[in-house]
Amino acid sequence: MFDAAVIRKDFPMLSRPADGKGLVYLDSTATSLKPAAVLQAMDEYYTTYGANVFRGIYSISERATAAYEGARGDVARFIHARDTREVVFTRNTDESISLIYYAWALPALGRGDGVVTTMLEHHANFVPWLELRRVKGIDLMFWEPDETGLLPIDALETLVSKKTKLVALTAASNVLGTLPPIGEIVKRVKRINPGCIVLVDAAQAAPHMPLDVSAWGADIVAFSAHKMLGPTGIGVLWGRHEFLEGLPPFTFGGDMIKEVHRDRAVYQDVPHRFEAGTPYIAGAIGLGAAVRYLEHLGMEDVRRHEMDITAYALKKLQAVDGVTVYGPRDPKDRGGVVAFRLEGIHPHDVAQVLDDDRICVRVGFHCAQPLHECLHIGPTVRASFYIYTTEADIDALIQGLLRVQETFR
Ligand SMILES: Cc1ncc(COP(=O)(O)O)c(C=O)c1O
Repeated sequence: MFDAAVIRKDFPMLSRPADGKGLVYLDSTATSLKPAAVLQAMDEYYTTYGANVFRGIYSISERATAAYEGARGDVARFIHARDTREVVFTRNTDESISLIYYAWALPALGRGDGVVTTMLEHHANFVPWLELRRVKGIDLMFWEPDETGLLPIDALETLVSKKTKLVALTAASNVLGTLPPIGEIVKRVKRINPGCIVLVDAAQAAPHMPLDVSAWGADIVAFSAHKMLGPTGIGVLWGRHEFLEGLPPFTFGGDMIKEVHRDRAVYQDVPHRFEAGTPYIAGAIGLGAAVRYLEHLGMEDVRRHEMDITAYALKKLQAVDGVTVYGPRDPKDRGGVVAFRLEGIHPHDVAQVLDDDRICVRVGFHCAQPLHECLHIGPTVRASFYIYTTEADIDALIQGLLRVQETFR
C-alpha cells in the first residue's frame, strides 16, 4: 500500500526539528529530497570500498566497478532500455542534451535543416537549439501550447517535414505540468519523416511515472538523478544503440579509449566512449539505490499519488481569492506541479513570507522564460509534489497564502 505518511519516515530532512516546525517541502521539481537508503548506499561506498572503477584488479576496485555498472543496469531496467549500453552517465539533463548538441547536432546539421522544439521547454532543451540556429543557420520552429498548456497534436503536420532533422521536446513541463503524449508524437513525427531524430527531455517524467523508452520509440531521452531521489551531479542520457554508436566522443582522456599511440587513439564502444575520466561513482551508486527505492514503491502508484495530490492542490488553490492557476485543468493531463500567481503580490514576496513557516516553493521563470513570454505572464509561484507530499502540506500552503494576503493587504 502506497502511504506518503509512511514514506516520509524514510526521509531524514522530513524528521521534525526541535523547534517543532516541520519542513513543508514543495520544490521537488527543482530537486527531490533523498531517502536514507540512497544516503546509506553512497556512504557505504565511501566508507568501505571507495576505490576507482575499471582500473583495479584488487577486490574493492572490482566491487566499485560492479556497483557502478550495476547502477547502469538498474537505470536500464527502470526505463525499459533494451540494452544497458544505451545508458550513458552524464552530470545532469543539461549535459545530456549538450552532449547531443556537440556530438551530433553541431557537426551534422546546417542551413536548410529543420529543428522543432516547443514553447514548454526548460532552457536545457531550448538554448542549444537557439545556439544551433545562431551558429549553423538551421530553421528553428516552435510548437506552441494552447491556452490550457496542451500541445495541439495536429500542429505537427505543419511543423514537421522531410527537412526536419530533430524534434526536441519535454515529456513533462516543469511549470505547467503538461504531459505531451510522447509515444503518439514520435509515431506522427516518424510517419512524416522516418529519419528525424526525436529527443525527449524526461527530467520531470522519469521521477514521476512509469517510463518505457523502448515503447516511446524516441532516439534520445535525458534526465537527472537528483530529481528522482538520487544525488546531484549525475544524470542520464539514454540513446538508441545504433544512434549512439555512430557518434564521436564528447570529452577526451582516460577510460574512453581502447588504445592510444603517437599517431592515433581508438575509442571505446558506447557508453564508455562518452564517460571520459573518473566518473561520479558514488553518484551512480546513489542513483541505483534511488531507482530500486522507486521500483519498490511502484511507479504506477507514484503517479496515482501525485495525481491525487495535484487534484487536491488544484481544488484548494482555486478556492483562494485572487489565485490564478496555469496549465491543464485535468490532473490526468499534468504532472505534480502547479504554477500560479497571487493577484497584486509579487511571487518573491509570496515565497519570502511562506519561508517564515518553512514552506519551500520556487518563484520566477523556472528556467522556462520563453514559456512565460508565450503565456504573456510574469514570474510565477510554483509548488511541486512528490511521493512524500501529503494533503497536510497542501493545507499548510493554503494557510500560508492566506497569511501572505493578510501581510500585504
Ligand atoms: C524539464 C526540465 N528539463 C531540464 C532540467 C534541467 O535539469 P538539470 O538542472 O538537472 O540539468 C529541469 C530542471 O528543473 C527540468 O525541469
